[in-house]
Amino acid sequence: MTNAQAPLLKRLFIETHGCQMNVYDSERMRDVLAPLGYAPVDAPDDADLVILNTCHIREKATDKVYSELGRLRAHKERRAEAGVKTTVVVAGCVAQAEGEELMRRAPVVDLVVGPQAYHKLPELIARTARATGERLAADFTPEEKFDALPAPKAEGVTAFLSVQEGCDKFCTFCVVPYTRGAEYSRPLARILDEARALADQGVREITLLGQNVNAWHGDAGAGEGTFAHLVRALARIDGLARIRYTTSHPVEMTDDLVALHGDEEKLMPFLHLPVQSGSSRILKAMNRKHTAEDYVAIVERLRVARPDIALSTDFIVGFPGETERDFEATLDLVRTIGFASAYSFKYSRRPGTPAAGMHGQVSEEVSAERLQRLQALLGEQQRAFNAAQIGKTLPVLVASAGRRPGQMHGRSPYLQSVHFDGAPALVGQIVDVRIEASTQNSISGTLSLRPREGEKVARSAG
Ligand code: 5AD
Ligand code: SF4
Repeated sequence: MTNAQAPLLKRLFIETHGCQMNVYDSERMRDVLAPLGYAPVDAPDDADLVILNTCHIREKATDKVYSELGRLRAHKERRAEAGVKTTVVVAGCVAQAEGEELMRRAPVVDLVVGPQAYHKLPELIARTARATGERLAADFTPEEKFDALPAPKAEGVTAFLSVQEGCDKFCTFCVVPYTRGAEYSRPLARILDEARALADQGVREITLLGQNVNAWHGDAGAGEGTFAHLVRALARIDGLARIRYTTSHPVEMTDDLVALHGDEEKLMPFLHLPVQSGSSRILKAMNRKHTAEDYVAIVERLRVARPDIALSTDFIVGFPGETERDFEATLDLVRTIGFASAYSFKYSRRPGTPAAGMHGQVSEEVSAERLQRLQALLGEQQRAFNAAQIGKTLPVLVASAGRRPGQMHGRSPYLQSVHFDGAPALVGQIVDVRIEASTQNSISGTLSLRPREGEKVARSAG
């Protein structure tokens, strides 16, 4: 079809670094730019608009942005020689933290836009296109941002739903309270509307997102209740079969939320609950507001409520002042709890955070050696957790076709990747899979034909 009036299609490439919140934000950016004629492509080579959605949490993540921008410069120059323009946007937390610096250090960047200003992207892009006007996005409140962004479009049977943003916890190592701003909870009605819309589009599992998701309190002053209320309200939506949430803070694991893990069958038995260290002394210096003993007690309460709950966590090794004894306490905590999975990082000194100025910075060698020991133990636990599923029959939400023809891919209640042979028509259904094999990162088995009891049967498509 040739049509001179058809809007010119432009190509958009978004590269996402960092957390689930960035993954979510990238999807929203794709949605707001679609009306301007931007269609997503899988590689930057032919893109008219390249957005780097960045992460500032560790130094390595910020370095990556600058090396990526070097590559983009070559790409932009090549295209300019051929007479085509490329617009380069830096979004996300590096944009928020280093906007001015970025524009100065990397002239390849046309526009810098922080996480609160994504709803203004179309306007900003339009302004840049005219090569006039302001180049830095102003600060917008999260309320404005959420109100102006289109509701999420579902692309599969699982989806993220942002319910909370920002953080007031001020852990001494962390940039999030500065890059993502103050804690903000979205109003209950908005979240429920979005969840219903997702369910209508065939989504069966939602993951509630927020930097401090379990601190959710709804509309301030409207008495919308606690995070447990929110989960209960979402669980009443037909079609939604599974609910997860991430990331939680231990001090917000209230009794009602712990109890809900035992009462609400749609709430999946998996929890990502960052602990950061097993040493109470270090936790205090981190301003985590809980001790190692508190954390163990929370996990015990969770296991009373839901005995099979699988735990995941985050660790930082080499925080200023961490001694071998403190680190041993971290290893002890790992042995005491037994994690199904975990992320662990070397402490990264972030300018502007209190820990950056603390005495007793730990050397790179010591941190690297500790990280290796910790990861060896965590890897062992992850393999053991996956191997422990062998012989069990698990309800698996079928998400997509697998790599091999005839193979399907899904998720266990414990957020494990599951492979099995089955028909593509199963996508969206919860099926029983008898687990027969495992690796560190996934489990696999055979579809069980016995009809399932318990979890509700999938609605017919359409
Ligand atoms: N250095 C290392 N790890 C960090 N994290 C946050 N800030 C830092 C830092 N300065 C880790 C924490 C957090 C996860 C998202 O990133 O473990 O839970
Ligand atoms: Fe950062 Fe701590 Fe807030 Fe998590 S709770 S986002 S680690 S300040």
